[in-house]
This record gives sequence, C-alpha cells and structure tokens, in this order.
Amino acid sequence: MTIIAELHQDHINLDKLLVLLRSKVEKMKEGEHPNFNLIGDVVSYISGYADGFHHPREDKIYEYFMGRDSKLDTLLSNCEKEHADLRQSSTSLQEAIDGVLHDAVIPMEEFAELLEDFVLRQTNHLNLEEGDIFPKINAVAGAKDWDYLAEQLPKPEDPLFGARLAQEFTDLYKELIIDMNAA
Ligand SMILES: [Fe+2]
Ligand SMILES: [Fe+2]
Repeated sequence: MTIIAELHQDHINLDKLLVLLRSKVEKMKEGEHPNFNLIGDVVSYISGYADGFHHPREDKIYEYFMGRDSKLDTLLSNCEKEHADLRQSSTSLQEAIDGVLHDAVIPMEEFAELLEDFVLRQTNHLNLEEGDIFPKINAVAGAKDWDYLAEQLPKPEDPLFGARLAQEFTDLYKELIIDMNAA
C-alpha cells in the first residue's frame, strides 16, 4: 500500500468510529445513558493511534512537501495546527470520560455537547484532508517522493484495525462488528 493509501485507510477506520460516536450522541440526546467505557475506548484509540501516530506521520509528510506551492503551504500549516487542536480536544474529552467513570457529576447534556464537538472536529479534519489536502499533495508529488517518504515513515501497528487486536480494544472491536452487521 502507498503512504496516501495507508492514511486513507486510517481515515476510513476513524470514520467508522465517528459513526459509532455520532450514534451515541443521538441516543444521549434522546435521554439514553451511554456506555462510557466504550466511548472511553474510542477516545483512547483515537488519542493513542490518531494523535500518537497518524497525525505525526502526516505532519512529517506535510513538512516534506512545504515550499512547492504557496496555497498548499497555507493549507498544510493550518492542518498541522489542527492536529494540535485535535490532540487537545481528545485530552479534554478523555478527562471528562475519566471523570464520569470516577463518579464525577457531569450533566448529560454537557457531555453530549463535548462529544458532539469532538466528532465534528474530527469529521471536518478528515474531510479537509481527503477533499483538499491529499489531492493537492498528489498533484505535486512524484514516485521518488513517495519512495523516499516510505523509507522515512514506517507504518505503525494499529491496535484496533491492524493485524493484531490489542486486548484493551476487544469490546470496541465487538461493538464495531455488531454495528456493521446491523447496518
Ligand atoms: Fe490529519
Ligand atoms: Fe489524517
């Protein structure tokens, strides 16, 4: 798989999780109590894999392609800032979830808003990269660039969608399978 194809696959996987979170937000708005452990697993995966590996990998690619096109440069530096903002929003959500799991009283509406904001930010970010940034990078990149980057950026292990499922994500994996069968 090429690097862009790998990143695209990560986006497809992330989107599955965002679909799951969106359905949790809807249920919360209807007054249902969500499974906070499961939401915690999703956020823990996103902050571990997306914030920890996927975005840093993209940052290195974006830095590499800086200086080829001025419009692309602006997009790339904005996108790098978004990575930092996304990391911050994962941390805030994770803290809220930890609070709930440790009996902190957080109004349901407030939590639903926090979760909805998280999902929206993540979704907009994926759309920006897929709709604007990746096509523009592809337009300036050549085979040599990708060969060089492939050597520099080995693919990290994905603990949820990769070859080996991490123990901590077993429940989430099952939920995703159930969701896919129900769809
Ligand atoms: Fe990104
Ligand atoms: Fe991405």
